[in-house]
Amino acid sequence: MQDRDAASGRGNADYSWKEFDSEAYFQHYYGEPHPDDDLVIQVAVEALQRAKPLGEDLDIVDVGTGPNLIPFFCSLARARRLTAWEYAESNVAWLEREIARDDLRPQWQHFWRVVRDAYGDACPLPDNPLPALREKCSVTQGSIFDLPRQAWDAATMFFCAESITGRHDEFEAACAQFARCVRPGGMLAAAFLVRSEGYVVGDRPFPVLKLSPETIERVFREHAREVEAKEIGIVEREIRSGYSGFIFLTGSAL
Ligand SMILES: C[S@@+](CC[C@H](N)C(=O)[O-])C[C@H]1O[C@@H](n2cnc3c(N)ncnc32)[C@H](O)[C@@H]1O
Repeated sequence: MQDRDAASGRGNADYSWKEFDSEAYFQHYYGEPHPDDDLVIQVAVEALQRAKPLGEDLDIVDVGTGPNLIPFFCSLARARRLTAWEYAESNVAWLEREIARDDLRPQWQHFWRVVRDAYGDACPLPDNPLPALREKCSVTQGSIFDLPRQAWDAATMFFCAESITGRHDEFEAACAQFARCVRPGGMLAAAFLVRSEGYVVGDRPFPVLKLSPETIERVFREHAREVEAKEIGIVEREIRSGYSGFIFLTGSAL
């Protein structure tokens, strides 16, 4: 049963998050930009452009940010404040180091260009986003299961709730916590891996639940309205370890 699959049945606490190799993950997943990453950016930017209240700066959280600046890039234009809510100490330190740099690494330059193009001429963005990121961003070490309720105007999540546990009940609890951390009416946007058998970072295995858009919509309908989950960029083979496409979810918190 695809939706019920618990690759291992092991839960979030059974994996060595404190030994997550941030740089190995960055190199494997973002070392060579892939067209699907550009697609994720485009749909995320579209969702953020529609986030309410329109025309206002928002207090935005990204959950399970990991060694990835794309969530910050996508939200920067709409953000008054940006919070990365990340569990692994190694990733917290990696994010802080990456934002403290003077210049973007070449990989990030590519993704930042895609973000700028997605916002277009109507929303001019700087050549180098790092100074603005340093002003607006903070990184909090915390678990998705401990997110405070109704604390932000909007929330994003890229490959977290389905990629931190092999247990479906924990996936549902993580999605519920994510949806409830936003004030009523606030935007929720999240990308989920599909057809993955799990992923390896350094030499360590990590889990991924197999999900359908229908399962994701059902889980989110309990906590959000205008829920839509779309399959995007899905191919029949694995693109990189643990990845063969994604589902993108949007909704508005209850
Ligand atoms: C597959 S990675 C995704 C990273 C990044 N968002 C991306 O798009 O590449 C899963 C992330 O979830 C984080 N994580 C693991 N357990 C978590 C928890 N209980 N709460 C929040 N994040 C968690 C991991 O440290 C890791 O950064």
